[in-house]
Amino acid sequence: MSNKVQSVLGDLDLTAEQAADVIALAIDMKKTPEKYGDALKGKSVATIYEKPSLRTRVSFDVGVHKMGGHAVYLDQQNGAMGKREDVADFGANLSCWCDAIVARVMDHNTLVQLQQAASVPVVNSLCNLYHPCQALADYMSLHELFGELKGLTLAYIGDGNNVTHSLMLTGAQLGVNLVAICPEGYTVDAEIVSQAQKIAAQNGATITVTSDLNAIEKVDAIYADTWVSMGDDKTLEDIIDVFQPYQVTSELMAKLGAQYFMHCQPAHRDEEVTADVLDSSQSIIMRQAENRMWAQNALLHTLIVK
Ligand code: CP
Ligand code: NVA
Repeated sequence: MSNKVQSVLGDLDLTAEQAADVIALAIDMKKTPEKYGDALKGKSVATIYEKPSLRTRVSFDVGVHKMGGHAVYLDQQNGAMGKREDVADFGANLSCWCDAIVARVMDHNTLVQLQQAASVPVVNSLCNLYHPCQALADYMSLHELFGELKGLTLAYIGDGNNVTHSLMLTGAQLGVNLVAICPEGYTVDAEIVSQAQKIAAQNGATITVTSDLNAIEKVDAIYADTWVSMGDDKTLEDIIDVFQPYQVTSELMAKLGAQYFMHCQPAHRDEEVTADVLDSSQSIIMRQAENRMWAQNALLHTLIVK
């Protein structure tokens, strides 16, 4: 069955203009939520989780409720996708009752199968490759603080992962210079870097990937994520010696002149970031967490209502 509705399985399923519009709408929704109180009236959104979640689960549930809709939570204990029935049948059945499907999956291909079978939009709420809802909320947060995104420089320091990929791709669309500093052997996907670099060039920005912490001198913000992601086969014990030099400390914040510290959370104090930085006034992690809801509401509004 062909799917004529727009889905967001990866960051580039939104055009650069749409990504900017989603952020602008999210900022408006946050300022004047009452304007959107009935936007999803009578509509239901299925939310599927193959991995644990706090922020995504609660922000989608509360966010859909704020727009007058209903979110249906589907864990994977009670009939896991692809086990009790095919992923495609899961997607087609959910489309009979729901107006969108939001899914957090182990493998990106599961999203593709859901989208191919569904007749409603499918939204990636984290997979092994991307975390587009996170990137939208993060750039919304920087937009609120700096007033514009073009020309900002964000350094992502740590494991090259799903969050890094989405920050690179959406950052490239929005004209943000992104420097990913990852230990050798734990870097980002080369194909995604190449995609991001082409898009960045069109928007007057750069995407830089290095393992050298001295490669940059000045950034606007530093971003960290866990060193061991959900579903990784590496353990902290395996990698801690390689990753330790990449810990974000107050010295590194000062050396790079970073105004803000960012983290998607869950965060691990004194692993990827020292407790004093994570809990400092420069840390905007709770703004990012709150903005998950506004950015997702704007995305759902764009896909379902418009
Ligand atoms: N940042 C984020 O996606 O958090 P959760 O894993 O708790 O949903
Ligand atoms: N990279 C992390 C992000 C968690 C929100 C993971 O995939 O576990």
